[in-house]
Amino acid sequence: MTNADPVKIMKQEVGKAAADRVKSNSIVGLGTGSTTAYAIEFIGDRLAKGEITNIVGVPTSFQAEVLAKKYGIPLTTLDAIDHIDVAIDGADEVDPQKNLIKGGGAAHTREKVVDALADEFVVVVDSGKLTDKLGSTFLLPVEVIPMAITPVMNALIKLGGKPELRMGIKKAGPVVTDQGNLVVDVKFDSLENPGELEKTINNIPGVLENGLFVGVADIVLVGEIIDGKPTVREM
Ligand code: 5RP
Repeated sequence: MTNADPVKIMKQEVGKAAADRVKSNSIVGLGTGSTTAYAIEFIGDRLAKGEITNIVGVPTSFQAEVLAKKYGIPLTTLDAIDHIDVAIDGADEVDPQKNLIKGGGAAHTREKVVDALADEFVVVVDSGKLTDKLGSTFLLPVEVIPMAITPVMNALIKLGGKPELRMGIKKAGPVVTDQGNLVVDVKFDSLENPGELEKTINNIPGVLENGLFVGVADIVLVGEIIDGKPTVREM
């Protein structure tokens, strides 16, 4: 193997493995993030080579939409379809029960809509995303409508969290989502019951969606490097 970035190689390999699962005549949910970006690129390659035909994508973000257009994947919307065959999306953390934390790209609201609708939701991650317990390495993203930011942060503190408003990089001020909202990243010292917490946080008035995806993933593909060789395994 060359001295190329191993995380990038794992992301590429797992993205390709997910793209290889896409069948002709299917509606595909297109996730967000650097790993899914490779899947979108490889789906576009397969379409261009004629390996698969008649694919339409449902983007989960502006990023996914831009990439799908770049790689020649026709797009549709949820208003025009009655099902999604497969969704491919990344994650920030995956626990042994295939529960996820998502939202590193602030796209978790649309991602949850599309991923949850898919007949098969395939998660693509590098091995660094696997964790025994959600919340160990990644803060929990919560999308909040701007006028409710203060009461929502107070409610998150009452739940035992330490919320921080996500700030932009190469942009002054906070991150603004594709829907025009703000994102709060919350540290919980112990995230014991992710299913309950997902519902409790979504019940706070002003919260649009949080990044806990409990019981949504069907298949988790993990990119790894073993003995210097990139491999993909199904969790
Ligand atoms: C965006 C997401 C991404 O899927 C998640 O952050 C993983 O991204 P990457 O593949 O770049 O590590 O949830 O909201």
